[in-house]
Amino acid sequence: MTTTSSTILPAELEDLVALFEVSRTDAPTSDEEREASLQAPKFGTVFTDHMARITWRAADGWVDRRVEPYGPLQLDPATAVLHYAQEIFEGLKAYKHADGSVWTFRPDANAARFARSAHRLALPALTVDDFVGSLAALVRTDVSWVPSGEDSSLYLRPFMYASEPFLGVRPSAEVEYLVIASPVGPYFAGGVKPVSIWVAEDYHRAGPGGTGAAKCGGNYAASLLPQVEAQKNGFDQVCFLDAVEDKYLEELGGMNVFVVKADGSVHTPELTGSILEGVTRSSILQLVADRGHEVVERRIPLAELVKGLASGEVAEVFACGTAAVVTPVGRLAGSTFDHAVGGGGAGELTMAVRAELTDIQYGRAADRHGWMRRLA
Ligand code: COI
Repeated sequence: MTTTSSTILPAELEDLVALFEVSRTDAPTSDEEREASLQAPKFGTVFTDHMARITWRAADGWVDRRVEPYGPLQLDPATAVLHYAQEIFEGLKAYKHADGSVWTFRPDANAARFARSAHRLALPALTVDDFVGSLAALVRTDVSWVPSGEDSSLYLRPFMYASEPFLGVRPSAEVEYLVIASPVGPYFAGGVKPVSIWVAEDYHRAGPGGTGAAKCGGNYAASLLPQVEAQKNGFDQVCFLDAVEDKYLEELGGMNVFVVKADGSVHTPELTGSILEGVTRSSILQLVADRGHEVVERRIPLAELVKGLASGEVAEVFACGTAAVVTPVGRLAGSTFDHAVGGGGAGELTMAVRAELTDIQYGRAADRHGWMRRLA
């Protein structure tokens, strides 16, 4: 199967999972240790006992589908990714429902974006089938790691990197694809509370024709210094403006951004090629449209947002992403302005959309758009 956009039926998923050979660790985490690490884990610090893996070689294509014990990778110092950053990743979550079943959210959309990112980074495309099959194979092996607490889930991190030991600048002839899994609670320490945003002035995240729309490690590396500067200024997150006119909102370091006006209309930066096409972003666009809100994808000038915050025309701002889900923004500032958003608290629509989305993800509400896929 070579498709990169398909909907996999449950019976087909069994066949895809069966392609993965499972070698279990002979030193599994004890039940007590696992239960302890499932209590309020800090984002991305605890990992399950196994990882899924597929190898690609130019001559053979994708081979050796397997689930193996989680552990360090041995890399030759000349491994291409260490020098030229030919790497992409995804982020999804596995949610435990009340009946014990485990589901994920729109994996086909993440798989399709992974294939687009692969294309941009001159990496081989992985099929939707292998992408979803690898998630299910890993989640089934480590199903006891899926937490059941409120706002808790198993974060799934598929990634692919250039593994050929070679210093020439050309696409790697060897590639590794892996999925690791990490039990998580809320992304921001302190839970779901309004975050503060600093608008970066001296840095941009991506330019036209660059890799801004791809989910590649390099984009995140470039966001770290501005993020550190935002934190030094006392803010939680950084917001980037466009690189051409230095005028329009793009995204935060790892999250898309939404603006809710007092008239109920919902605005988000349009996809110009330098913004990540967030799966949560597109789901929110659908949910707010379903609620009858006017939804506008457009270029949003920072000056308009600042003016709207001062006048009260802008009622809410929120950030979204798989890790952050929907996170209210309570303050927006730069060197020449500093505004509370909607009085500094969490916005009403922000929290309603967050609740609606998480209700679907945790199986508490009907999945009317057919977004959920059962993994285990
Ligand atoms: C996600 O939301 O899954 C992300 O990839 C953002 C961040 C943790 C890098």
